[in-house]
Formats: sequence, C-alpha cells, structure tokens
Amino acid sequence: MWQNALTLVVDRVRAARSVVAATGAGISAESGVPTFRGAGGLWRNFSASDLATPDAFARDPRLVWDWYRWRRERIRRAQPNAGHLVLARFETTLPGFQLVTQNVDGLHQRAGSRRLIELHGNIWRARCTAGCGLVTDVSREGADAPLEDAAGAELPTCECGGLQRPDIVWFGESLDPGDIDRAIAAARGCDVLLVIGTSALVYPAAALPLVARRAGALVVEINVEDTPITPQVGAVLRGPAAEVLPALEARL
Ligand code: OAD
Repeated sequence: MWQNALTLVVDRVRAARSVVAATGAGISAESGVPTFRGAGGLWRNFSASDLATPDAFARDPRLVWDWYRWRRERIRRAQPNAGHLVLARFETTLPGFQLVTQNVDGLHQRAGSRRLIELHGNIWRARCTAGCGLVTDVSREGADAPLEDAAGAELPTCECGGLQRPDIVWFGESLDPGDIDRAIAAARGCDVLLVIGTSALVYPAAALPLVARRAGALVVEINVEDTPITPQVGAVLRGPAAEVLPALEARL
C-alpha cells in the first residue's frame, strides 16, 4: 500500500530545504490528456517519426501542424486536475520548490505554477523556422473554431514571412541548454525529488532521478505502473497523481 511509503516521504519533505518535482504526461492523464506510451497513448496510434521529428516537418509540415492543432484542441478542453493544483501550491508551501516538466500542454501554468522549467517546449507557442527565431503565442488561434476545423487550416507564418513550427523539442533535437542545466542543478541540489507520471525513457529528462539520487536526495516515484527507475528510487507511491499528491499535501 502506498500509504505506508507515504510516512517516509512526509518526514523527508518536512525536513527538506529544497524539493523538486519532475513531471511527465501521467500528471495530465486524469485531465483527459492522452499519455504517449501507456494504454491509449499517442505513440500507440501515431508514429513519432512521421509527426515529431525535424525530418517529418520538412517532409510534410501540414500533417505535423494538423496533428499539433488536433492535440491543442483536446488540451484546450482539459482542465488542470488536483495533482497540478497541489504542485502549484507547493511553490509557496515548500521551501526552495522547483517544478520541471516534460509536458508541453501548459496545464501547470493554468493551475498557477510559475517557477517552471519546460524541458520539451510548449504546444501553445510557435517558432519561426526561417531564422528570425521569433516565438509567438498561438493560444488564441482556433480558440473559437470547432475541433473539426483545426485540420486543414492554413500553415502559420511569421511576421517575416517564414514558416512557423510548433515550439516543441522533437526527437533528434537538443533541449535548450539553459533549461536542462537549471533542471540538473535543481536535481543535484534538492533533498527530495518527486518523479511524477513519467515512463522515464526519454533522455536527458530521465537522468534527473539518477542525478538526484547520486547527490543524496530521496527520489520518490509517483506513478500507476513500474518504470525502469522503480528499482532505484527510495520510495514508490503507486497510484494516480491526482490522488497521491493531495494525500501527500494533506499530511504535510
Ligand atoms: P509517457 O507516456 O511515456 O509515460 C507516462 C507515464 O505516466 C507512464 O509511466 C504511466 O504509467 C504514467 N501514468 C499514467 N497515468 C498516470 C496517473 N494518473 N498518475 C501517475 N502516473 C500516470 O510520457 P512521458 O514520460 O512524459 O516528448 O514521455 C516523455 C516524452 O516522450 C514526452 O515529453 C514526449 C514523448 O515523446 C515530446 O513530445 C518531445
């Protein structure tokens, strides 16, 4: 029962000078946003190499944009869940709290999180591919149109005339060096790392638990299933994040 492990986690969080949470798609699962690899996961039905690589975009930008617009409209209809809301409150209730996410859905911000490192970008931004590099907020685009109208819309262009792309880190691309450096420094400097709703398969994000553990932190996995890091963590809270996080918060 994860309730037994909770006592250890509560003690260590209470004593911590710094707590870091690293989230993946599982934190948004109970908001109705599909994960990537689990049952009903996006990569079970769609091919990452056709949709989430620079080559895919060069080959067929319309296909890629249609897919991201479709995901955007699903996310727009979703609401932050109890897990997102607890993490937003931890910013003020826990010392030195830092949130790091692999998610691009923006649900942490909508829940109120501000101290946030988004390692894989954000689906609500577009970026110019023509070299001017301008990043644009696209959160209003399509907001008033029904979901079915998202497919087949015009390809978005920048002020400079260049083609825009989703501001997302695709397979084969590097993360922003400042973001990953800050995330690694946070993992190295924390006393407790909460690893929430990630399959821990995509690097370098998947290295954060190892960095924290080597530096002496208690690594806590909050997930509905085992992952490759399960044998290496100090505590496992096996359950949905939207239940486990409120239970943790209630005991602090
Ligand atoms: P995955 O889909 O690989 O893993 C989701 C994890 O969440 C799994 O381990 C599930 O067991 C767990 N999970 C599901 N529901 C949960 C719940 N209610 N509470 C807690 N855990 C739950 O997603 P990520 O690990 O985030 O990259 O994937 C990493 C990256 O791969 C993504 O950022 C994305 C993808 O390709 C980009 O888009 C660049």
